[in-house]
Amino acid sequence: MPRTILVTGGAGFIGSHTCVELLRVGHEVVVLDDHSNSCPEVLERVAKTAGRPVAAAHVADVRDRRALDEVFDRHPIDAVIHFAAKKAVGESVRIPVTYYDINVGGTTTLVSAMHDHGVHRLVFSSSCSIYGNATTVPLTEDSPAAPTNPYATTKWTCERILADLCRHVPEMRVLALRYFNPAGAHPDGELGEDPRGVPNNIMPFLTQIAVGRRDELSVFGDDYPTPDGTGIRDYLHVMDVADGHRAALDHIDDEPGMRVLNLGTGRGASVLDLVTVFEEVTGRPIPYRVTARRPGDVAELVADPTKAMAHWGWTARRDLAAMCRDAWNFQQRNPYGYAP
Ligand code: UD1
Repeated sequence: MPRTILVTGGAGFIGSHTCVELLRVGHEVVVLDDHSNSCPEVLERVAKTAGRPVAAAHVADVRDRRALDEVFDRHPIDAVIHFAAKKAVGESVRIPVTYYDINVGGTTTLVSAMHDHGVHRLVFSSSCSIYGNATTVPLTEDSPAAPTNPYATTKWTCERILADLCRHVPEMRVLALRYFNPAGAHPDGELGEDPRGVPNNIMPFLTQIAVGRRDELSVFGDDYPTPDGTGIRDYLHVMDVADGHRAALDHIDDEPGMRVLNLGTGRGASVLDLVTVFEEVTGRPIPYRVTARRPGDVAELVADPTKAMAHWGWTARRDLAAMCRDAWNFQQRNPYGYAP
């Protein structure tokens, strides 16, 4: 059933791909984004890619209660997908209070506005980072939380707040999606990942090397207890992440309360595996140098994705080669990202 969905952070990397998917299946989309880490032009590209535009775009901080009230007064919002947050692990170690303010404060402001306006469906953007130094992989939703950095702690704190909220507001329906490592881009090359400054995440770093903007990759440690010594992650195509949000909305009314689901592939790749696949797919060499471990990093994070499959029939359909190909296609078409 088509619905009107408020997407906070809708111009960001995962947000923009999710907007395209929601528009494609017939939902109306209202975006709230302060463009602190995105640009307004993204929404024009969303319209081009999806074949129709979002219903409205509000430029505001998610902590701005008056702006939220205006959005809920003006649009018949049925459900909210909350992406708007800060997400750089290293930065979160340097400015933890800002991370709590934006990520936790943004979530509490949003849910109290939702409650006051009678909106009770929320899909929350959580993260596999809450599992921290996992002792056993793959990770199920019941694996213990042990965040190793302030970013991860903000996501875990938000989950706890939302669980408490659901206990006291019986009509609330919250789905927290714990993404593993989203990567890739829309295959049409219009939308992709365009970080400001030096990329924190590995895939945009690789595409910027391939396009000539950076010289070499620093491999953050080769002394982890993994087969080649480099960190293992469960990379997940951003189009599969977007499809996971489509599925979440389809199933949000299945049961009340708080539910948590992993979005991952169940397959791990090391940093060196990723470099090899990237080189094969793009034909570009990636010079690299092994450097020290990055503070806050962990050895291995791989999802057990069976719950999303069992409950929703959702499964990741795209592989690492598709992620590399699509990310590279976006970077080639947009060597400097969305900048003119
Ligand atoms: C981190 C979070 C994740 C979050 C994401 C958002 C953790 C454990 N994970 O992902 O939950 O959603 O940020 O940004 O906190 N690497 C290099 N060289 C580089 C960059 C990365 O070797 O220049 C390595 C890292 O050490 C890691 C892998 O590549 O092993 C992936 O790193 P990255 O893309 O930054 O993602 P995570 O840190 O896993």
